[in-house]
Amino acid sequence: MNIKKLVQKEVLDISCYEVKTILEQKPDNQLVKMNLNENFAVSSEPVKKLLLDACQRVDVRAYPPPRGSLAVKAISDFLGLSPSEVAVANGADEVMDLLMKVFVRKGSKVMVAEPTFPMYTFFAELYGGKEVTVMLKEDFSLDVDAILNKVDKQTRLLFVCSPNNPTGNQFRESDIKRLLNEFKGIVVVDEAYVDFASGSVIDWIPDYDNLAVLRSFSKAFGLAGLRLGYLVSSKQVINYVQRVVGPFNVNSVTQQTVALALQNWNYFKEQLDLVVNEREWLMENLKQIDGLKPYPSDANFILFKVTAANLSSATLTEQLEKRNVLVKDRGQLPLLENCIRVTVGTRNMNQAFISALKASLEE
Ligand SMILES: Cc1ncc(COP(=O)(O)O)c(C=O)c1O
Repeated sequence: MNIKKLVQKEVLDISCYEVKTILEQKPDNQLVKMNLNENFAVSSEPVKKLLLDACQRVDVRAYPPPRGSLAVKAISDFLGLSPSEVAVANGADEVMDLLMKVFVRKGSKVMVAEPTFPMYTFFAELYGGKEVTVMLKEDFSLDVDAILNKVDKQTRLLFVCSPNNPTGNQFRESDIKRLLNEFKGIVVVDEAYVDFASGSVIDWIPDYDNLAVLRSFSKAFGLAGLRLGYLVSSKQVINYVQRVVGPFNVNSVTQQTVALALQNWNYFKEQLDLVVNEREWLMENLKQIDGLKPYPSDANFILFKVTAANLSSATLTEQLEKRNVLVKDRGQLPLLENCIRVTVGTRNMNQAFISALKASLEE
């Protein structure tokens, strides 16, 4: 049978989103994983304890609370918002998918401030949407005029990632406010890394019905394997998002665990401070190495440019991998020629990275 003939055009046009894993070749514990912005400053024991506590409270023979309502209640209480202003899904990635389901079909446009997280484009194209990009300025700030000049009636969503992956900077509040005031579509502010920065736009939710804030438990809470992301927005937007969610989309163990994690916020907050300290340590060490130029960061990763003669970011990434240190080569992205993104790890991880980096540069 010609299966291909049955498949929708949008699916034929995209390929499976590749995540490079080299676990097949090397056991996990030999690798220094600094490529996916996970958070290993959160120790595994307290997290395991939360998970076990959650398992004790849950009867997995029963379906989970519908549309993640247990997690929604815990998150909205934590933020001081109404449950009707929050929706949850399996990771912030899936929240993006839900937003596209609500707002994007063939003929719709999705505006993205590049270089940024690639999943906005991935999901937009899956629903037949057209991605329209506007470059960040040289200093990685938003080019608000260029964005506003390029949006039109077909532009349903505008994605702004703040702090931005992979540049690391948080955008100016005044720029985001201008977008909210002047763009007649939904402004999605992806705040996956906001806990490592100093401000958030979440307090503006009552003032703008076109603001949608994306958050994740994968970063500050170190719960990337659990898969929980959420959307905070106006009641109207949340209501439409809830229409496209399956009734039992988030499993009961995940819902309980994030509820317990929020009760233990003080613990996670302390770990955040550790990450911020380590970020400073890493930044100072990177600055001292000739042939590299690190950029300031408000997130749990640092972007740096390889300026050493005759060395590309791709080659340096490979050399680090040979030394069991995984980082993300971003050198192929616009504006980011020869740049590498490295996740802030524990002191041991950061030291291992700096040693491997020095050895690779001397090679
Ligand atoms: C900017 C940004 N948003 C969202 C995500 C995905 O988050 P989640 O793990 O909740 O799907 C990531 C993951 O790296 C990210 O960098």
